[in-house]
Amino acid sequence: MHALVVRGGTLVTPTDIFVADIGIDDGVITAWGGRLAGRRTLDADGLLVIPGAVDPHVHLEMPVGPTQSSDDWATGTRAAAVGGTTTLIDFVEADLGAALLGALAARRAQADGRAVIDYGLHMTLREMTPATLAEIPAVVAAGCPSFKTYLTYAGFYLDDSTFIQALEAVGKAGGLVLVHAENHGLVEHLRRRLPAEGHTGPRYHALSRPVAAEAEAIERATALAEATGCPLYVVHVSTARGAAAVARARARGQTVYGETCPQYLLLTEAELDRPGFEGAKFVCSPPLRPAGNGEALWAGLAASSLQTVGTDHCPFFYQGQKELGREVFTGIPNGLPGIETRLALLHTFGVGAGRLSLNQWVQVCCANPARIFGLYPRKGTLVPGADADIVLFDPQATVTLTKDRLHENVDYTPYAGLTLRGYPHLTLARGEVIAAEGNYVGPAGGGRFLARPL
Ligand code: URP
Ligand code: ZN
Ligand code: ZN
Repeated sequence: MHALVVRGGTLVTPTDIFVADIGIDDGVITAWGGRLAGRRTLDADGLLVIPGAVDPHVHLEMPVGPTQSSDDWATGTRAAAVGGTTTLIDFVEADLGAALLGALAARRAQADGRAVIDYGLHMTLREMTPATLAEIPAVVAAGCPSFKTYLTYAGFYLDDSTFIQALEAVGKAGGLVLVHAENHGLVEHLRRRLPAEGHTGPRYHALSRPVAAEAEAIERATALAEATGCPLYVVHVSTARGAAAVARARARGQTVYGETCPQYLLLTEAELDRPGFEGAKFVCSPPLRPAGNGEALWAGLAASSLQTVGTDHCPFFYQGQKELGREVFTGIPNGLPGIETRLALLHTFGVGAGRLSLNQWVQVCCANPARIFGLYPRKGTLVPGADADIVLFDPQATVTLTKDRLHENVDYTPYAGLTLRGYPHLTLARGEVIAAEGNYVGPAGGGRFLARPL
């Protein structure tokens, strides 16, 4: 007799689809099969039963210039849970000169007791001092074997030789480097030149970060990863050319992974032309792209040359935050909300539109992020022994997205007005129902830090 049985749903794993019951005890999946007995049951007849989704790229409470991203660990993880995400990985950003392990402890202290789902942390490398080099193995041992690097952004940018040092050190420690790849020189030049020419509106944000900036930087990053032998994960690939560069590196035999995001799959740069200052709602980096790039990204996911869909959730209120850039686009904080909508968007516009199979949907949203970041099979699939992080997904539900239906702490959604076919019905985290029919119903702060091996 199991403590809980999820009865009669259609299980979708990364590889299989079949009707079965799932038995759960002490927060762990302990059995699957026909007609299991349980002290409690959840009826999943007519529903898809999938692993809780894993979001490998979010920014909660992230300081950005004079402000910070508007979702905190409580609001952001609640929104994630309602949207079917039961694990996320955020970042640690140590101050320059500060110890990495100290910053890791502080970030964990910020999340613990507030996060409602399990979380991991990537360590951001802003510099490569002797102290940084010395700390990398200890950071890996502390459960953070993935290191974020930026090839642009003042205060974060690593030049080539510093990036190479990061690749060497992380590779030697058995870790994985994540890279935000845009050509810093080109972006900085255009961020100076365009406003000086009087081009100040949100549209010029995209023109200051052209396709070539990403294409060049991904090509360079993969080449330097090749030279150093370090595994590389390219975050938020937004262009056909970027996706092709990732595919070429993989074809050379490198361990290189590519992530894209719903905004690059579904939206285009045309959003930046909205009347008045509304385009600011769509300012993110890399920027939204010309039509055509999205289809190439879908094709990359379908061909497995891109492996994951992360959200890069980095929300800012339009009023009072995005408005910081009313005078000139360089003042608009970069980032879009999306922590709650990824799974359902990928179902409608991936599975429903015939671009992805159900198994591929589970691969890119659940299993592949878990695998790449050392969480599989505890997270990202449905097997005995895995955490009972499970989503009962109603493939027939019809939902029109509005800001008011979502739980993200922000005053808009970039996906307003889209009608979705299929939506999360129930979310279980370690065997407890934490979200039901669009509401968070779990306890406060039950999420745990996940120390990850790679
Ligand atoms: O515009 C974005 N993506 N902001 C978040 C930080 C980053 O570059 O991922
Ligand atoms: Zn980035
Ligand atoms: Zn990001």
